Amino acid sequence: MQKIFETIKEVALEIDTLIVNEDTGYVDGTNATGDQQLKLDVACDLLIEKAFRDNPEVLALISEEKEDVMACNEDGLYTLCYDPLDGSSIVDANLAVGAIFAIYEGEPSGDTLVGAAYIVFGPRIEIVTAVRDEAPIRYRYINDGYQVFHPIALGEKGHINASGGSQKHWQEKHITFIHALFAEGYRLRYSGGMVPDLHQVLVKGGGLFSYPSTADNPNGKLRVLFEVLPFALIFEAAGGQALDEKGRRLLELTVSHPHARTPCFFGSRYEIDRFQKAYGIL
Ligand code: AHG
Ligand code: MN
Ligand code: MN
Repeated sequence: MQKIFETIKEVALEIDTLIVNEDTGYVDGTNATGDQQLKLDVACDLLIEKAFRDNPEVLALISEEKEDVMACNEDGLYTLCYDPLDGSSIVDANLAVGAIFAIYEGEPSGDTLVGAAYIVFGPRIEIVTAVRDEAPIRYRYINDGYQVFHPIALGEKGHINASGGSQKHWQEKHITFIHALFAEGYRLRYSGGMVPDLHQVLVKGGGLFSYPSTADNPNGKLRVLFEVLPFALIFEAAGGQALDEKGRRLLELTVSHPHARTPCFFGSRYEIDRFQKAYGIL
């Protein structure tokens, strides 16, 4: 798996060059979940595919931008699932974007997830990698090399509150819960890119990121295999918690479809307790 993390570090530099130079317009067509695809989505997907398809450890690739599973090496151990460019809708505004990777042993589901990583393309490139039950490692690209940066560890409680979806379509219990956190002094921090938004919760040592079910999106928006589960592993490895809307550990979810979605709540202990009480599941 370390080889996969090393390739992610290399491909991050190539993706960064693309983000800086590629135009931010659309191609004709949509991806498997019906999102309009940017030229950048497609180009980043191809870069990552090229970096991994001949890796003998990789059994298959599943990408947000590919309808079907792409078989690679039949003796490979890992199914690599990825979101090649997270934040397609904010890249034109020049906000921070990311890429997300989940490494599964064989068939992907919560219990076969063994490693995860994400890249943040902000003013600097940062990468966080994690394997089960070990503290995540945070790298920052400085002076032409990756350096291990401050470790990531969540405290008991934070002060960030980031919730996605259209508020017009939030359920009543979600509105009450989110407002209660603000009334306690929590600050709104939501850019519309889950990578920088979750990264901020992690590096500030706590808080809440949620993407609930809404009237217009009953399963939420975020996709299980390459958005939700990798962050669930990273949050748990950092000492936090990651649950679905019924209070189940996300890492216990089974997956019905490569592009399946789920509502999700990531945070430190205090905020996750508050969420469970507000939703009547504790
Ligand atoms: P992507 O660009 O890969 O389609 O993902 C965008 C996601 C995620 O990054 C973010 O948290 C969410 O969309 C924002 O959605 P809302 O605008 O509905 O809050
Ligand atoms: Mn995404
Ligand atoms: Mn994407």
